[in-house]
Amino acid sequence: MKVKNLTVIHGPNLNLLGKREPQHYGSASLEEINSRLSSEAEHASVSIEIYQSNSESDIVSKIQDLKSDFIIINPAAFTHSSVSIRDALSAMKIPFIEVHLSNVFAREAFRKESFFSDLAVGVISGLGAEGYIAAFKYAVNVK
Ligand code: DQA
Repeated sequence: MKVKNLTVIHGPNLNLLGKREPQHYGSASLEEINSRLSSEAEHASVSIEIYQSNSESDIVSKIQDLKSDFIIINPAAFTHSSVSIRDALSAMKIPFIEVHLSNVFAREAFRKESFFSDLAVGVISGLGAEGYIAAFKYAVNVK
C-alpha cells in the first residue's frame, strides 16, 4: 500500500535551522525544507502535515492524535533521551523513518544512541535536508 497521508515531525531547536550550527545542520531553513516537502507532496498527490515542537509532551500528544499512515520524524535531541516519544510511536504503530541532518555517528558518543532506530522502518543520518526528501520518496514510492 502506498502512503497517502504523511506527517513530518521536527523536534526541538529545528526551528533554528539555517542559523543553527550550519557546519552540522546546513544552511537551509526549516521553512525551506518544509516547502520542498510540500511541493514533493503536491507533485505526488499525497496529503502532508508538517509539525515542529520544542516540547516533548506536545510531540507525544501530537503522535497520539495522528491519523496518518506514515511519519517522517527528526526527534532532534529527544532522539537520545525520550522514552515517552518512543512509547507513543510504538503504541500508535504508524510506520516511521528517523531522519537526522547531521551524521550522528560521526559526532559525540551520546548521539550514537537512539531510542527510535530499532522501531524505525529505516534511519537516514548525514544527508542534510536531502535526507527528508529521500525519506519522503521512500514512503511514497516504495512503502
Ligand atoms: C539532529 C541530531 C541530534 O543529535 C541533535 O540533538 C539535533 C539534530 C540532526 O538532525 O542531525 O538537534 O537530530
